[in-house]
Amino acid sequence: MAAPRGRTQEGRRGSGGSEQSIGIAAPVAGQAAGFTVARKGRDLQFMNVLVLGGGGFIGSHLVDGLLRRGGYDVVAYDLYREKLEESIGHERLRYVAGDIRSDHERVERLVAESDLVIDLIAHANPSLYVSNPLDVVRLNFDENLKVVEYCVEHGRRLIQFSTCEVYGKTVAPLIGPEAVVSEEDAARYAVFSEDTSHLILGPVGKHRWIYSCAKQLLERLVHAYGLEDRLDYTIIRPFNFIGPRIDYLPSEQDGNPRVFSHFLQALKDGTRMKLVDGGGQRRAYTLIDDAIECIARIVGRPDACRREIFNIGSPDNELSIRELAARMIEIYRRRWWDGVGRLPTTETVSGDAFYGEGYDDSDRRIPDITKARTLLGWEPRFGIDEVLERSMAYWFEEPLERGLVEKPVLTGA
Ligand code: NAD
Ligand code: UGA
Repeated sequence: MAAPRGRTQEGRRGSGGSEQSIGIAAPVAGQAAGFTVARKGRDLQFMNVLVLGGGGFIGSHLVDGLLRRGGYDVVAYDLYREKLEESIGHERLRYVAGDIRSDHERVERLVAESDLVIDLIAHANPSLYVSNPLDVVRLNFDENLKVVEYCVEHGRRLIQFSTCEVYGKTVAPLIGPEAVVSEEDAARYAVFSEDTSHLILGPVGKHRWIYSCAKQLLERLVHAYGLEDRLDYTIIRPFNFIGPRIDYLPSEQDGNPRVFSHFLQALKDGTRMKLVDGGGQRRAYTLIDDAIECIARIVGRPDACRREIFNIGSPDNELSIRELAARMIEIYRRRWWDGVGRLPTTETVSGDAFYGEGYDDSDRRIPDITKARTLLGWEPRFGIDEVLERSMAYWFEEPLERGLVEKPVLTGA
């Protein structure tokens, strides 16, 4: 494995083509919680981090976080840059616009030039798993596998974003509610651990699981390269991160985003929140700030994280989608409602009607975060109300400054 290559402040790369490096004030380099900054003599050494999908929800927060903490030269590669507003112009950020499906040589070169590759590129939206299953596999497996292999070839450390969806469903829907004798049993079945839980998916005809399956197969290949001692990697399984900049409002662009954005739209318009199949399914929501802190620790502690899989999530923040709707309405009523406008109500719709045929669902998933606690000393700080309130504030307090995000990536090349 090649040793990470530091680069001094003088060693900046130039930019060309659609690669942009727009300098403003120099950041204060230093060491914040979770980050290791290599130092050599009096020169600061900057680790070169390539963030594939750096223009996305998690990616843009990660780029901002790395630059804020200092010690990193960051290349953010993405189709879009709108979510990088906070950091575009930072002298240690280079944004590279590209489509990974047709940009193989350049992506390989970027991998070769980096010390660490963080791969977040994926279709990450359930409606696409149903409407465009082949595109999901081609991007989330085929293209990501190429990145894995570039890392193997060039001896680069890889942090690969997978998903909590690899766990699939709990056993509860399989064994039937009568076999789940207590609430404690049900909760126990829903707690997923990285190295021991079984991965339970639905039938092939329920192609929602194609996303989970593609991510799982990628994890298995990454693991296999590790077994042959050819790859230094860490796999991350996020559990429903939310926060500013997640997805887009359905009124802003075409598409079918994740639930939080649909519910926001209903709050803005006073329309109905749709509860798919009644909204009894449960999720544990994590504020993006908590998540970034954990990812930061993974970035900064390669030895502790070598060939490990990490759940990142907030186990105490679990609630049903029906409760999510009610909480969001309540928070909105308390914080932003003018007392006059219509407040949303809820209605039930079937999964097939909402997403199309082939939809199936995770009934429940709670992260076991013992590993992140033990190896990284990480603990999520934000409870569910704060997670929701902080995330919602972005849409209700800064809508004018925010501007619109660009078009979604919906189909294959
Ligand atoms: P996102 O859609 O905001 O980010 C994905 C980024 O990839 C987007 O910016 C998109 O433009 C970019 N991208 C897509 N196709 C591309 C292409 N062909 N070429 C270049 N860039 C392309 O999603 P996110 O929520 O930030 O998720 C990031 C990663 O984390 C994904 O791998 C996702 O599967 C995983 N994940 C996220 C969550 C979550 O809670 N948000 C949960 C589980 C897993
Ligand atoms: C998400 C996506 O697959 C990925 O972003 C990611 O891998 C992962 O889970 C995650 O974020 O951790 P899911 O949680 O099912 O999957 O996505 P949402 O669209 O946010 O849906 C959550 C639940 O709300 C689902 O049960 C869905 O059926 C329901 N829903 C969605 C509604 O009831 N109403 C809506 O308007 C939209």
